[in-house]
Amino acid sequence: MRHQVVIIGSGPAGLLLGALLHKAGVDTIILEAKSRDYVLSRIRAGVLEQGTVDLLSHVGADARLRREGLPHEGFCLCFDGEMLRIDMKDLTGGKQVTVYGQTEVTRDLMEHRDASGAPAIYEAADVAIHDTDTGHPCVTFTKDGRSQRIDCDAVAGCDGYHGISRRTVEDRGLQTFERTYPFGWLGLLADVPPCAHELIYVAHQRGFALCSMRSHTRSRYYVQCELTEDVANWSDDRFWEELKLRVGPEVARTIVTGPSIEKSIAPLRSFVAEPLRFGRLFLAGDAAHIVPPTGAKGLNLAASDVHYLSVALAEFFAERSSAGIDHYSAHALDRIWKAERFSWSMTMLMHRFDSHSPFEQRMQAAEFAYLRSSRTARAAMAENYVGLPM
Ligand code: APR
Ligand code: PHB
Repeated sequence: MRHQVVIIGSGPAGLLLGALLHKAGVDTIILEAKSRDYVLSRIRAGVLEQGTVDLLSHVGADARLRREGLPHEGFCLCFDGEMLRIDMKDLTGGKQVTVYGQTEVTRDLMEHRDASGAPAIYEAADVAIHDTDTGHPCVTFTKDGRSQRIDCDAVAGCDGYHGISRRTVEDRGLQTFERTYPFGWLGLLADVPPCAHELIYVAHQRGFALCSMRSHTRSRYYVQCELTEDVANWSDDRFWEELKLRVGPEVARTIVTGPSIEKSIAPLRSFVAEPLRFGRLFLAGDAAHIVPPTGAKGLNLAASDVHYLSVALAEFFAERSSAGIDHYSAHALDRIWKAERFSWSMTMLMHRFDSHSPFEQRMQAAEFAYLRSSRTARAAMAENYVGLPM
């Protein structure tokens, strides 16, 4: 088999890259380790920056998003019971975000790829990347017990944090930067109407909480929990009780409870790998970086990476110029680090850290007070939340 680009991973990064390259006339194949149903069963975040919506629209995968996505012009921060609205639209000169589940983005992109006729192989085992330092890399894998090989010009490592692409270059000068946080998020999805029209991020003595949504009838809530916590210890009743304590009586009254559809714990991590290019192998999305979910940047960063990469690869194939691919890593990392900074700062502001001294607690309170008193501070937060320019 031969294709111009082999994309490893069928998450949002791989699928969107496939769609962008298809639109640019570049021939790709996607190799995914899991089944399609498994990929679509993963519940992830759900806030899209305008730039991400524009990319989905550019490739023509935005029909359902336009119908079902919820435009949000602001969000709320609640700090020790005090509510502060960040009016994104007003503070950014008209920008907003769209609430639409990542799982739905993935489904739309899979259907879009099917319709385009571009190939994707699911349940591909033992995927391995070879000869990336030559102009003729190849990828081998096993499907239904049969070994196969794809020759190509470039490989896109879009296989997430646990994928093989980054590991392939671990001993070739890859540098990693990491910070783990001493807590996780326990998330609950339920078919109940959201408690408010906008997201509410809550900092409370008992820990962080987030009120989010997927639609007018489906809510997503989170509470900060111990890393060692077992989801089995959290009945739905216990979750709702804890959530209500953290959001305070006024918001608690508006929370409609119901049976959970999904409940899981995710650790929080900041992580960046550098560089993102090794010969003809390019890393993008979670394979290259992780942000804690507090800033809602994970999916959006994956989208901006593959935007840069698609432009660079399209130029490479159309003009046989390597200028774009030579710049991909530096170009993408510039935006990645800014999103890392924002996600880290939101995480530091809104969570309870057992290790914090009274001084550090006062720093959090002072930062909140500053946001309250300064339009400039709120504008900086809004500018980052809606997404920095691509
Ligand atoms: N071979 C093939 N596919 C693999 C391999 C492998 N060895 N290892 C992992 N994969 C697949 C995974 O099964 C997954 O479907 O790669 C895909 C990676 O998808 P994601 O983890 O969704 O990562 P990405 O596409 O970069 O999307 C980033 O996902 O985790 C969130 O916060 C993150 O929202 C962000 C988004
Ligand atoms: C979500 O709805 O899952 C969500 C929203 C905003 C975040 C993180 C997660 O910052």
